[in-house]
Amino acid sequence: MHHMKEIVTYFLLFLLQTSSSTDTIGPNQYLKDGDILVSSGKAFALGFFSPGKSSNRYVGIWYNKVAEQTVVWVANRDNPINGTSGVLAIDPAGNLVLSDGNHNLSVWSTNLTSMILKKSSSAQLMDSGNFVLFQDQSKSVITWQSFDYPTNTILPNMKAGWQKRTGLNIFTSWKSHDDPGTGEYMFKLELIGTPQFFLFKGTKKIWRTGPWNGPGWSGVPEMVSNFIFKISYVENDDEVTITHTIKDPSIFSRVVVNESGTLDTWQESKRGWARFWSAPTDQCDSYAHCGASGNCNLYNLSEFECSCLQGFEPKIERQWYLRDASRGCKRKQGENICGNGDGFNKVTNVKVPDTSTARVNKSLQLRECHDLCLKNCSCTAFASANISGGENGCLTWHGDLVDIRQFSNKGQDLYLRVPAELKRLSWEEIGDNCDSVNSSNASHNLLIMLVVEEEEKRGEERDGSGTSAEVSIFDLSTIVSATEDFSLANKLGEGGFGAVYKGRLPNGQEIAVKRLSKISGQGNEEFKNEIMSIARLQHRNLVRLLGCCIQQDEKMLVYEYLPNKGLDNFIFDKERRSHMDWSKRFEIILGISRGMIYLHEDSRLRIIHRDLKASNILLDTSMNPKISDFGLARIFGVDQTEANTNRVVGT
Ligand SMILES: *[C@@H]1O[C@H](CO)[C@@H](O)[C@H](O)[C@H]1NC(C)=O
Ligand SMILES: *[C@@H]1O[C@H](CO)[C@@H](O)[C@H](O)[C@H]1NC(C)=O
Ligand SMILES: *[C@@H]1O[C@H](CO)[C@@H](O)[C@H](O)[C@H]1NC(C)=O
Ligand SMILES: *[C@@H]1O[C@H](CO)[C@@H](O)[C@H](O)[C@H]1NC(C)=O
Ligand SMILES: *[C@@H]1O[C@H](CO)[C@@H](O)[C@H](O)[C@H]1NC(C)=O
Ligand SMILES: *[C@@H]1O[C@H](CO)[C@@H](O)[C@H](O)[C@H]1NC(C)=O
Ligand SMILES: *[C@@H]1O[C@H](CO)[C@@H](O)[C@H](O)[C@H]1NC(C)=O
Ligand SMILES: *[C@@H]1O[C@H](CO)[C@@H](O)[C@H](O)[C@H]1NC(C)=O
Ligand SMILES: *[C@@H]1O[C@H](CO)[C@@H](O)[C@H](O)[C@H]1NC(C)=O
Ligand SMILES: *[C@@H]1O[C@H](CO)[C@@H](O)[C@H](O)[C@H]1NC(C)=O
Repeated sequence: MHHMKEIVTYFLLFLLQTSSSTDTIGPNQYLKDGDILVSSGKAFALGFFSPGKSSNRYVGIWYNKVAEQTVVWVANRDNPINGTSGVLAIDPAGNLVLSDGNHNLSVWSTNLTSMILKKSSSAQLMDSGNFVLFQDQSKSVITWQSFDYPTNTILPNMKAGWQKRTGLNIFTSWKSHDDPGTGEYMFKLELIGTPQFFLFKGTKKIWRTGPWNGPGWSGVPEMVSNFIFKISYVENDDEVTITHTIKDPSIFSRVVVNESGTLDTWQESKRGWARFWSAPTDQCDSYAHCGASGNCNLYNLSEFECSCLQGFEPKIERQWYLRDASRGCKRKQGENICGNGDGFNKVTNVKVPDTSTARVNKSLQLRECHDLCLKNCSCTAFASANISGGENGCLTWHGDLVDIRQFSNKGQDLYLRVPAELKRLSWEEIGDNCDSVNSSNASHNLLIMLVVEEEEKRGEERDGSGTSAEVSIFDLSTIVSATEDFSLANKLGEGGFGAVYKGRLPNGQEIAVKRLSKISGQGNEEFKNEIMSIARLQHRNLVRLLGCCIQQDEKMLVYEYLPNKGLDNFIFDKERRSHMDWSKRFEIILGISRGMIYLHEDSRLRIIHRDLKASNILLDTSMNPKISDFGLARIFGVDQTEANTNRVVGT
């Protein structure tokens, strides 16, 4: 009898193995440890796995084509199976059940009530990475799907947020690399006030996206739909969700709540996964870092990133002095609002304060928002709820303004209530400013400041750790005096795009200023591209961008100054050439190659230089080569290796 059972079992498993090469578990079928389902387009696989050094067995979904096993979903994350006796099956009621065969013990189940189930359920692994339980063979009704019960990963086309049918889908980190159990970091939508996503550590908020303001999250202005991603936000009675899709579906990308407390976006490339975005990264990302009524500004060149909003002062001066701003700011004596003649001053380019306590009315114009806020004394600030195509909709805050951060040239405007004596702008002036941003208007004093995502520590390439560095601000007068009014004596050379001048800042630092010629054809857009592309790149074989300046018709880039100038100064000069031995030359070649590999493959954005020549290779005091001049670089998506360029270019 026993013998008979084994034969039957063997026969069943044999049958199953043939069916397990498909993407579906049908009624009365099961998947045992060792079998896998593969989605029809072969993007994802589902089966049993052991994470890291663990020997526990879990059912999970991973990328079928990515060499390094990368798990995006786990069924029994808190209830592992000891040994390989696990079986995933559709039970007689139609639920998907994972059981430990040795102990006849259910370790995980879809737990659906029999009301919505049919015996003919089947579960299919889709090419999106979604594991879907269909009510019956017609596949017209979905009774359960893994996308509604995620673990730590947001995949393209997955709705993250809240849906009436299933509630919130919450993303929780693993416990550790070896344990996919529910960890302490959680990314989830908070619906109170206006919806925002928060990253929590336990119950403590550690980072906030800010509210959706049309193009993107108020606190993540760089994350908007572009040529790689499309991001869509839906807010109605049935759902409040965010979905991202990749324009080229052959590129794998995922957003993960990391067990070390960051939200990371990864993209797959030939060289493995590359992290190209992460939060929180700096002090100002840290929730309420500057306390109530504080503003966090990394670009402020003063020594402390926190400052109090206008009309406020540190609540506890001593702590503030010791750079602990967590207690925030209080109103200055005698500068109380709610008096006659209150008004609003604009705080530009910010992540708006926590909207958990804000009120929203999407149908109001900014003008009406102003009036609404003004006439209610408890209203401390207002802002536009939707900045696509102007400033529309109305957000008002009543009470403390928490977790404001200052961006350089992104973000949105916040209108802060101030007493009459501090008021700078009347509504009419606010209104004028809102009408259109005239970037060629010098009075806007358009200074672009950028945060460099310092992808690699200088000199330590490819470790992928993301800290932030800063690109300074320069205004025209600083540059003019540093270069002695662009004097001929300070001219270092003339490139295709304009002259390069040596300069010296008041603090003694030497700089090289590339003054882009007005006839170079490089418009604001291209100029911005150049800045962005360079600013994102940090490598010891790349020239470092220190800052830039756009003012009136002037566009300038400010680089570190390299005293040895270009490689052409050496190799085309008989005398100096003789001082370069072959090992030095070899090192230079290696350095250039490292820089190029970085540009082409390792940087977050793929960059082709398109004008690489000896005069664009600068040498530092130790004769280390540094590639300069990315004026023609185009920004590539990570896996995009070709692009149409519509301009005839350089060398
Ligand atoms: C797993 O099973 C093995 C042998 O069956 C046993 O020695 C071990 O203690 C079990 N581990 C756990 C954590 O139950
Ligand atoms: C396994 O457990 C289920 C319910 O828990 C029970 O109905 C079934 O008889 C058990 N099977 C064996 C072989 O023990
Ligand atoms: C299913 O329900 C049982 C009992 O209500 C519960 O212990 C278990 O955690 C549930 N499983 C899942 C996957 O929700
Ligand atoms: C924001 O405004 C734009 C332009 O008026 C509109 O198309 C869009 O639907 C609005 N978005 C939201 C979320 O209301
Ligand atoms: C978490 O971050 C570390 C360090 O960047 C990385 O090695 C690890 O793979 C990440 N974990 C996940 C689940 O992405
Ligand atoms: C910069 O810091 C100084 C000193 O803390 C402060 O007075 C000023 O308001 C800050 N500026 C901005 C734009 O945050
Ligand atoms: C928004 O404001 C309009 C005009 O004052 C008003 O009619 C409407 O009821 C408000 N909507 C909400 C949700 O408060
Ligand atoms: C001011 O606004 C608050 C919050 O919306 C509200 O509770 C209060 O009634 C308003 N006061 C007046 C005078 O309208
Ligand atoms: C911007 O200002 C310039 C003058 O500074 C003017 O010539 C141009 O027409 C303005 N553009 C817009 C869109 O207002
Ligand atoms: C620039 O804009 C300001 C208002 O923002 C305006 O007063 C000024 O006339 C403008 N200048 C030019 C040259 O357009």
